[in-house]
Amino acid sequence: EAAPSFTLNPATIVASEMKMLTKNIQDLLSSGHPSLDKVAKYYVRSEGKHLRPLVVLLMARATYNCPKIEQDGTKRDSISASINIPISSPTILQDFNPTYQGTEPTSMRAAVDPQTTPSDITTQISPSQKRLAEITEMIHAASLLHDDVIDNAEARRGNPSGNLAFGNKMAILAGDFLLGRASVALARLRDAEVVELLATVIANLVEGEFMQLHNGAGETISEKYSPSAFDYYIQKTYLKSASLISKSCRAAAILGGSTKEIADAAYLYGKNLGLSFQLVDDLLDYTITSQDLGKPAQADLKLGLATAPVLFAWEQYEELGPLIVRKFSEPGDVEKALALVQRSNGLERTRELAASFSAKAIEAISIFPDSEAREGLEQIARKGLTRKK
Ligand code: FPP
Ligand code: MG
Ligand code: MG
Repeated sequence: EAAPSFTLNPATIVASEMKMLTKNIQDLLSSGHPSLDKVAKYYVRSEGKHLRPLVVLLMARATYNCPKIEQDGTKRDSISASINIPISSPTILQDFNPTYQGTEPTSMRAAVDPQTTPSDITTQISPSQKRLAEITEMIHAASLLHDDVIDNAEARRGNPSGNLAFGNKMAILAGDFLLGRASVALARLRDAEVVELLATVIANLVEGEFMQLHNGAGETISEKYSPSAFDYYIQKTYLKSASLISKSCRAAAILGGSTKEIADAAYLYGKNLGLSFQLVDDLLDYTITSQDLGKPAQADLKLGLATAPVLFAWEQYEELGPLIVRKFSEPGDVEKALALVQRSNGLERTRELAASFSAKAIEAISIFPDSEAREGLEQIARKGLTRKK
């Protein structure tokens, strides 16, 4: 393994774009209604890791020198000149925001034309790609607001969760609002393929959450070990945890005018990275204390969730079947499952599977020309395996 790459901090490569991210998202979320503003922006604050936008921005830069589909000589980005028009609702804004100008695409053109924005020449990231990174984070924040209602969560990132701080009603509405504003920003990119990708993500997140809600019990899981239970888990994991980053990576390449081969590679990087990260998450739930994790540990079994460690353990210990089917709901189930997982090779196999996804992510982008940004993406995939939270 190349030692020097560990000295590189991926976030510094796109530091100037990352610095603007939170502020730009907050602008996209201004509603004129003070409490809606507050709830909608609650999960878009600076203490987040902002991993998804970081990956999107690095992907934009890593694909800059890749083959392009230059059909008619115009850069794809030139059609998205409308992205910087304020997207707040005119009805509210006219009362609250005197700077509202109405929709005049031509007047905004200069402000976003890549040719007139010097930083774009040096960072090689277009306005559309930056906006995509913001949209990705907005969809993520929306899903967290809803997720914490569904999970009845009390904390996130060491703070009270949105549902706890504002109540379920406001948390749900704020999540919907984030999706609405993300959709307007997405439409402003004027790229139907990218709209389709990100709209599919929103559906995928719900599909993944539904698969987890039912966890296959009664429908696909029987008490006898079957490999299809693992397939179900991987499919669920893709939808819930890898769809957003994989399709956002693809969208970043598409917005840069990349060829299909490059867009496919970007997608594969994101898909394998997302799967690797979730497997590590599922592993940490078994191996790390709540304090180190910043959220309740050993939570999955208590929530009735059968993730990779217990599914692998089931191959060795048949008696886990009935517990998985009844979602560890009887007294002693959680403790019994935990003991069997510890005795099994389930944790080790989960780690190995995460490592193999991480290797596939790195392999996918090996067709990109050498760059700092590509190295940053490689490092994110590598470092995810050894993280402790
Ligand atoms: C976190 O998982 C949750 C998700 C990654 C997706 C949740 C999706 C929905 C609630 C569907 C609705 C989607 C949208 C876009 C509004 P987790 O609960 O396992 O992780 P946690 O420990 O971070 O809570
Ligand atoms: Mg949750
Ligand atoms: Mg959840």
